[in-house]
Amino acid sequence: MEAYLDNAATTKVKPEAMKAIELAMTEMYGNPSSLHRKGLEVEKKIKEARVIIAKALGCKEQEIYFTSGGTEANNIAIRGIAEANCRSGKHIITSKIEHPSVLNTFHYLETKGFRVTYLDVDANGFISLKQIEDSIGDETILVSIMHVNNETGAIQPIKEICQLIKKRNNNTLFHVDAVQSFGKIPFKAHSLQVDSISISGHKIHGPKGIGGLYVNKGAKINPITTGGKHELGLRPGTENTPGIFGFGEAVKLIFKDQNKYINSITELKSYFYNLLSSEIEDLVFNSGNDNGFAPNILNVSFLGVKSEVLLHSLEVDDVFVSSGSACSSKKKGFSHVLTAMGLKENIIDSAIRVSFSDINTKEELDYATERIKHHVGHLRKIMKR
Ligand SMILES: Cc1ncc(COP(=O)(O)O)c(C=O)c1O
Repeated sequence: MEAYLDNAATTKVKPEAMKAIELAMTEMYGNPSSLHRKGLEVEKKIKEARVIIAKALGCKEQEIYFTSGGTEANNIAIRGIAEANCRSGKHIITSKIEHPSVLNTFHYLETKGFRVTYLDVDANGFISLKQIEDSIGDETILVSIMHVNNETGAIQPIKEICQLIKKRNNNTLFHVDAVQSFGKIPFKAHSLQVDSISISGHKIHGPKGIGGLYVNKGAKINPITTGGKHELGLRPGTENTPGIFGFGEAVKLIFKDQNKYINSITELKSYFYNLLSSEIEDLVFNSGNDNGFAPNILNVSFLGVKSEVLLHSLEVDDVFVSSGSACSSKKKGFSHVLTAMGLKENIIDSAIRVSFSDINTKEELDYATERIKHHVGHLRKIMKR
């Protein structure tokens, strides 16, 4: 049996999305900018995908820009907004637990003369509304906060944060990295009243290398690359048509019955949470099994067992998880997210992220638990020698 439990890293492309990708590569291979029929039919199909995504995000189709993924969407939003609005001020705010595509863009802007405030989080990974309020001033042009954290699943209260920002300074723009929440948590761009939102195809059973950026029509933003007039000039370059077709189809599938999708991943997470709690001793959950956390992400430390050693032991049995301690920390190999939460070294060192999709089954979770129990027991014995 195989148990792929790393769906926050990426997901398997669904057959319906595959079919759409194939269509773009076989019959509908025209360039959407071409004036002839072969181009126009592709342009029409791109529009269809844009409409599907706009409807899912709760915005106008003219507010959706296709990008090469969440990373590029975050770069365009953050750099594009900072550069377009820098005459009004050079103060920008983000949190310490953002994805590297946000954090490193803020580091880059620091080298360009922007002043950055990096917000703290508490032991559960939540940002303090009071600290946001205290940090915003007349010079603050941008705040960027992720909706769902990719390592712990912690959900930030985006609506309240947005209201607070606008109350403190109505000219401050608010960008939300929703790569991990899109499809999994219901929200609508216009009712949230945020200025920009990043999403990505491969986290929701679409292809890799495609993403989207919502930008509120009224928001001032500059392109960060130069080229033609594609994507209203904000993201020049011939469109990734296979990606766009597949992305549109993947979004359509989830949003056809979003509640069903959410219920299935919520059930799997609860099932696994209870199973691990009853089967394995000395574990610490670094994410909750409640509605403060995403329904598909569980971060757990098996004390005394290094996460990477467990990860590689499990892969031998075709159980695929992620080490919670991935990337971009000052202390090499240590998760910057769990470090910002102030967790102890032994908890960070043994943190595993498990993430679900609606194609997982309870049988897979039974199998994964049995394998985890086996390897954790074995590795703990070795460590004690
Ligand atoms: C929260 C978050 N933001 C951005 C990204 C980057 O998305 P992409 O892989 O599409 O570039 C990821 C990917 O893991 C993510 O988890």
